Amino acid sequence: MKLLVTGGAGFIGSNFIRYMYQKYPDYLIINLDSLSYAGNLENLRDIVEQDQKKDKRYTFVKGDIADSKLVNTIVEQGVDGIVNFAAESHVDRSIDNSRIFIETNILGAQVLLDAGLRHNVSRFIQISTDEVYGSLGPTGLFSETTPLAPNSPYSASKAGADLLTRSYFETFGLSTIITRCSNNYGPYQFPEKLIPLFITNALEDTQLPLYGDGLNVRDWIFVEDHCTAIDKVLHHGRPGEVYNIGGNCEKTNKEITMTLLQQLDKPQSLINYVKDRPGHDRRYAIDCSKLCTELGWSQQYDFQQGMQRTVTWYLENKPWWQRIKTGEYLDFYKRWYEER
Ligand code: NAD
Ligand code: TYD
Repeated sequence: MKLLVTGGAGFIGSNFIRYMYQKYPDYLIINLDSLSYAGNLENLRDIVEQDQKKDKRYTFVKGDIADSKLVNTIVEQGVDGIVNFAAESHVDRSIDNSRIFIETNILGAQVLLDAGLRHNVSRFIQISTDEVYGSLGPTGLFSETTPLAPNSPYSASKAGADLLTRSYFETFGLSTIITRCSNNYGPYQFPEKLIPLFITNALEDTQLPLYGDGLNVRDWIFVEDHCTAIDKVLHHGRPGEVYNIGGNCEKTNKEITMTLLQQLDKPQSLINYVKDRPGHDRRYAIDCSKLCTELGWSQQYDFQQGMQRTVTWYLENKPWWQRIKTGEYLDFYKRWYEER
């Protein structure tokens, strides 16, 4: 199978490529990534080095998913499946400026869908988010039939792409599937999201900015569990369907913060309650029984195991996140890439 993975230099995309590369020794993987601020070639350094020595079945292409010419040039070379991770992914950035979110998350998806249709790809997986469903009250779960009600420009752009993806199935018969996953955590997550930001700030003894009352709830899933779910969907999912993916692990942001401080042996005085995020969704919780019963997926990591692996990774990979925090990584990886 020849897979085009977009956004493979980011957090989840790089974990997915590593997982698929190791699990399927005969798969060819093309990673198309524009290397935005969140794209980092070091995330796949081990795979690149292994591949150059032996397999030669991983290719990196630097480019924009909204570049129709480039995307068609790649897809016409006999791509079987497209897995679209490429996105602007941070809610706070979408509040500051939403334009790039529309350009990448919607227009980029449209270019990929068109290319998939034109060149007859047999699978198109749109990686979406539970945030398209909006916010829950104290009870209830998002199911695949929950109406879309996005509240941030980020989630609105993802919902737009979901609807467009659906239309390519209904109108043209493209074999699309949408996955909607809850909040991921794990190695290689850019330190602007809650968990890596708070781990790295705590390690530097700087403040942890907790929004509002800290009681907003997210459902947390370890990134490798997300990858195994996408693998199931890619190979066994039914075209035209949506599959929710979740970790069955609801936590308030305050609970997450307390857990991290305890694991790192840092004081609660580092917590700084700050002004709330505008339009801040109160609670997300996922019903992923369709994925479990229909495709036989189950998660491998509970919260304690996942957090242990995550905290250990950030402790062992200080240069990775320190270079990001100081802005040095841009030069560092540019050099590293040019040397290859
Ligand atoms: P990320 O920000 O870490 O990575 C995004 C990647 O996309 C980066 O490598 C970036 O360079 C690349 N990219 C951005 N614009 C591009 C463009 N125009 N062309 C090509 N590449 C481009 O994001 P992530 O957390 O890994 O999320 C990946 C996907 O999963 C996104 O679609 C996101 O909506 C979805 N998702 C994320 C989470 C989460 O908790 N992080 C949860 C559910 C769904
Ligand atoms: P985030 O990691 O940005 O993911 P999302 O907004 O997509 O769920 O935020 C997770 C939760 O943590 C969310 O309720 C906002 C909150 N949060 C903070 O309290 N402080 C922060 O500095 C960040 C980045 C997030």
